[in-house]
Amino acid sequence: MRERSLIIVKPDAMAKGLAGTIIGRLQGLGLKLVALKMLRLDKAKARQHYAVHEGKPFFDSVVDYISSAPVVAAVLEGEEAIDVIRKAMGPTDPTRAEKSTIRGEFGLDIEKNAIHGSDSPETAAREIALFFTEDEILDY
Ligand code: PPS
Repeated sequence: MRERSLIIVKPDAMAKGLAGTIIGRLQGLGLKLVALKMLRLDKAKARQHYAVHEGKPFFDSVVDYISSAPVVAAVLEGEEAIDVIRKAMGPTDPTRAEKSTIRGEFGLDIEKNAIHGSDSPETAAREIALFFTEDEILDY
């Protein structure tokens, strides 16, 4: 099934100049880049983005972290895009990730793990709408 997924290049990967590398790696898997922007999330937007984790012990920390510096957000589209991206990212904790994955190669710890990717079609729809208007997602 053709899907869209939101990815965020997180502050640790931004600091290492990896936005192009990470997005290029995903494009290299056949995914199409249909929306792209660089922004710094304010706390309110960060809380909305991670709303599903509200109440968990790491919630404040992950909100502070994602809003601590500019990030690059993108929408990638393709067959089974969500799963393709999740496999390419590797598990949340980079110390458990294969070196061939984005988190395994570039992530530092469970918070500074280089990239966020949507985990389901429902989440993707919600996350994409938080970052992009319909006319910022290009059909080509
Ligand atoms: S859960 O509870 O299994 O659904 O959470 P998980 O999918 O593993 O992680 C959700 C996001 O929260 C971040 N995270 C953390 N940040 C700081 N400290 C701790 N302990 C921690 N655990 C998880 C993690 O980086 C995930 O961010 P995203 O952007 O979704 O990768």
